[in-house]
Parts: sequence; structure tokens; C-alpha cells
Amino acid sequence: MKVAVLGYGTVGAGVYRMLLDAPGMEAGPVLVRPGKAVESFMVSDAALIFGDPTVDAVVETLGGLDPAYSCGLRALEAGKHFITANKAMVAAHGLELAALAREKGTAFLFSAACGGGVPFLHNLALSAETDRIEAVSGILNGTTNYMLDAMQRRALSYADALREAQSLGYAEADPTADVSGLDALRKIQLACAVAFGILPHDGMLCEGIEHFTAADTADIRSRGLVCRLIASGRRTENAVSAYVEPVLFPRAAAESSVFVNNNMARYMGRRCGSIVLMGQGAGRFPTASAVLRDLAAARQGARAMFPENCRSAEADNREAVHSYYIRTGGSAACRLPLRSVLAQGDVVRAVTEPMSAGKMHALAQNIRRDGNDLFFAALEEEIC
Ligand code: HSE
Repeated sequence: MKVAVLGYGTVGAGVYRMLLDAPGMEAGPVLVRPGKAVESFMVSDAALIFGDPTVDAVVETLGGLDPAYSCGLRALEAGKHFITANKAMVAAHGLELAALAREKGTAFLFSAACGGGVPFLHNLALSAETDRIEAVSGILNGTTNYMLDAMQRRALSYADALREAQSLGYAEADPTADVSGLDALRKIQLACAVAFGILPHDGMLCEGIEHFTAADTADIRSRGLVCRLIASGRRTENAVSAYVEPVLFPRAAAESSVFVNNNMARYMGRRCGSIVLMGQGAGRFPTASAVLRDLAAARQGARAMFPENCRSAEADNREAVHSYYIRTGGSAACRLPLRSVLAQGDVVRAVTEPMSAGKMHALAQNIRRDGNDLFFAALEEEIC
């Protein structure tokens, strides 16, 4: 199988390097920006890839929506398999690309877009063919896990932890997508589509780690808790829930032992029960290895990850109910339905009554809009 690669950044260069040694694969041309074709295997004219009948598969690692999407259309139109690591593009245009791939009989696979090196979507897609998947969730962003771990185990500041994650190549070009939870949200969108045949759009909830501080670290540690950023999706009556938020786990929970850039992905099937997969969720070779697995799967006949008739629908988060740990100022705390106050002074730390994720996220938005700082995290287990 001759494979062309679009882009030569962290992931693209990793894919090219792995193709050189992969049995049954041949490294084809690599598309780079005009003026950047400094090696003999690099080209800047996309027609040399899409118009080359010897190229069997195109791997897209450009990032962003366009030209990644138009390249996907061109590759599939030309009868080539299209493999991508681009979650934003698949979340935005995946249904159209899947339909075109079905029409052309070629593969459209995107394991590397969710979970880095963890074979999450690959196994989820296989399980969803024969079982009814009820829920998907996990630690799906390597950058924020690396940061939370560095802050909680090594007492690094937020800024230093982010700098380290960036220097190790885990963060997106603009790390806002990582720390805001948006990157994890896109991944759970894809997991929902693969698992349930419903790609959630609108109505999703997203809270990242930007409000987590060293003082929060100290307080939750004193209570035997560990903070992780969790993305969740579940079947609901008419659609799916889909949201991202920090969650506090007891120290003995499996999530508390997911360190550095690792991801932990779970799915729950009616027959297979709870399946947990763990491994490196970001970085050059973990992500490139997921691309190579997709290429191998395409060579063996795999064609799709979204089930046939996959559709998009608005997310419905009313059934996702938790108690929340909150830290905010005294006047803002009065605006929350508190069940118990843990610490009181200029800063209040408290536990809320159980409420839907939708209500908590909306209250947080209003409280912050009025100029107050607020950190909140769902409680996996009651702490008082
Ligand atoms: N920025 C992403 C992460 C890369 O940190 O998980 C892998 O998708």
C-alpha cells in the first residue's frame, strides 16, 4: 500500500518515519507548503498526490478545517483511502466524508483523532457492530492530563505545567483548545458517533481546567481526592448527552493513577460490559501508530468507523446529574444550591446539591459573567 502524507508537523513526520519501516507499506510523497519542500520526498503541488494512480491512501495531518476537508474530498473522489488525525475536521465534516467513502468503496478512518495511541475508536467501532453501546467516557486530552498530574504530584504552577506539555509536543498549536476542554469535547463527539450512530452538535457542555489553581490542588489533596478532566457521552431517550468537565476521584480510583500524557477511555456495552483502554494520548509516535493501525485496517478491508445512517442531533444533558465541589467568593457561593460548606472565609469551598450538568454549567457562566472566579468539579463519590 503506497501512502501519501499531507503535512510534516509532529504527527505527519511521525507517520512518514513509521511508513519507512512498516511491512507492506510504502512511503509516498509528503505534501508541504510552497517553499518548504526541502527533501526529495516532499512536494508542494497536491495534484502530484491526488492525481497519482500509484497512491493508494492519503493520510491527513494538516489540522484545521480547510484545506483538510477539501483534501479529504479529493482523496476519496480519486478512489483513495483517507485516514486522518484531525478531530475538528471529522466532527465538522465527518458525516459527508463517510457518505462519500461509502459511495466510492474506500476507507475513511480516524482512530488517531481520539485517544492518541490508544486504540479506542477502533475497538469501539468493532464492539458497536455487534453490541449496544450505552456510554463512552474518559480522560481524552493528554495535555490537560499532563498538566493536572504535574500540578497535583509535582506542585508545578499552571503556567509551568502548560509550558512543559507544549515543549513535549502534546498541546495543540493553540493550547486554548486543550485547556478549555474543547479538544476533549470533539473527541467525545466522535466517540458518540461511532458508538451510538449520533454525532452530537450544539447543546454540548464544556468546562476545562483554566480555573484550577495551586490552592485548589492543596485543598482537594487534603480530602484524598484527585482531579481529572473527563469527557462523557451516553444514550438518552431521544439523543445523546455529551459534556466535558473536571471530576474529583478518590485516590484509589483508576482515573487517579492515569499519569502524564496518558489517556484512559471507557465504553460500556450491554453485552460486553465495561471496557477500559489506556495508553499515551498525545505525542508524535503514539498518534502516528494509531494512523498506521488504521492503514493496516484499511488494507485488511476496514472501510468505516461511523455506523451506516449515522446522523447528527442536538445533545441532551438533562439526565447527567452530579453533586459538585465548588470554590468561589462568598457572595457568588450564595447563588449556588449548596448542601454543605467545607471551608468559609473570603473564599468558600463547598459541595452542591445534586444537579444536572446543564444547570451547573449555566450557573458557572452567570457567576463568571458578573466578574467572579469559580472552579467546579463533579464529585465521583460523595465526600460529605
Ligand atoms: N492536544 C491533544 C492532546 C493531542 O493533548 O490530547 C492529541 O489529540
